[in-house]
Amino acid sequence: MEKIQVNVGGASAFVSASGIEALVPDGKAALAKLTDGTGLGNDFLGWVKLPTETSDELLDDINATASRLCELCDVVVAIGIGGSYLGAKAVIEALSNSFASYIPSNTPKVLFAGQNIGEDYLYELKEYLRDKKFGIIVISKSGTTTEPAIAFRVLREQLEAQMGREEANKRIVAVTDEHRGALRTLANTEGYKTYVIADNVGGRFSVLTPVGLLPIAVAGFDIKALVEGARQMEKATLSGSDSSAMTYAIYRNALYRSGKKIEILVNYNPKLHFFGEWWKQLYGESEGKDHKGIYPAAVDNTTDLHSMGQWIQEGERIIFETVISVAKADNELRIPFEESNLDGLNYIAGKRVDEVNKMAELGTRIAHIDGGVPNLQVVMPAITEQSLGQLIYFFEAACGISGYILDVNPFNQPGVEAYKRNMFALLEKPGYEEETAAIKAKI
Ligand code: PA5
Repeated sequence: MEKIQVNVGGASAFVSASGIEALVPDGKAALAKLTDGTGLGNDFLGWVKLPTETSDELLDDINATASRLCELCDVVVAIGIGGSYLGAKAVIEALSNSFASYIPSNTPKVLFAGQNIGEDYLYELKEYLRDKKFGIIVISKSGTTTEPAIAFRVLREQLEAQMGREEANKRIVAVTDEHRGALRTLANTEGYKTYVIADNVGGRFSVLTPVGLLPIAVAGFDIKALVEGARQMEKATLSGSDSSAMTYAIYRNALYRSGKKIEILVNYNPKLHFFGEWWKQLYGESEGKDHKGIYPAAVDNTTDLHSMGQWIQEGERIIFETVISVAKADNELRIPFEESNLDGLNYIAGKRVDEVNKMAELGTRIAHIDGGVPNLQVVMPAITEQSLGQLIYFFEAACGISGYILDVNPFNQPGVEAYKRNMFALLEKPGYEEETAAIKAKI
């Protein structure tokens, strides 16, 4: 099986060999902390061996639940936010046909809710679902997050109104904590089918649990191949036979220390847009703390070369890029020859569109390196379940290693509570009386 590869050649002119060498012991120590559990946040290391520890029984059970939802529903709404949303969205978008509403055609359309509090978004979704046979996968590790809780209350009311409570309950699956949280209480009361998110797997590392696997299976994709790809990367990374995660973690820290404060994840395939969103959460929440951390950004090229390209080429030199290159396009499409050649394109007639895309990618990488932007490259063989599984584990492992090199706890996210406290205070949530008084004094 072909594996993903990391190419650091485009960064070598920006970091000294001795700077990289100096970080190798830190990288090795960081990997050891992940495997022996001696680092900060070591109660959240369940993801490290998750792929190999995921049983076929669980995958079969998820596939069976997905089949049941497929039989009952034309549309399934996956409700969740952050780590309870982005992994499934990233994989489904990467594997889906860009225009057919769903593939294969016997699977329901998978939509998402609870990832925002947009009133228009939820209203329009309700309208869309009005004449549809729909089901709900509600995902919240804590079971108390406001955004998905609102969406679930609204859509559950609609489902019950359309189907009756008993039938509605057959079409709702909850993925949550085994014991705690309002969602667990509700699921137990109503008798929903449930899956458990283990205590030791944080939200942003949970795509390979039922959090991501159930929506992905409902969308018709092969979760066994996805997990298999991750297993291969897990074994190779933990045994040391593949050092790509370590190399990526070391280079990005060396670049950060040299003043490159922003990392831009670049794709040349629009199907990877949400993979960039997933990656931004993974690295942003893991590293941005103690007033440290690389700011993770993402662009979709060549689209964004016509908007952000100028800044990247000539703006402040505080950025580096990590390009996800897809070696092989799924389909073949050649540019036609045209006698009149009025558009002047005959010089590329007969070439595949992907060949032009690849030259745009190479040309851009060279231009950016020449312009002072270090370039790392992660090459995936093709966009398949297996290579996405590899890529997910690769970035998770590199994130853990990188966070420990940076000397932060990569597995907590204390900063995300600040807005919640203020929001609850402003909404006068019971229990927040002091905060309400304090915040009212500020506005
Ligand atoms: O990575 C995280 O922990 C967060 O992004 C959570 O996934 C997000 O806040 C959703 O939390 P929950 O699944 O508890 O609703």
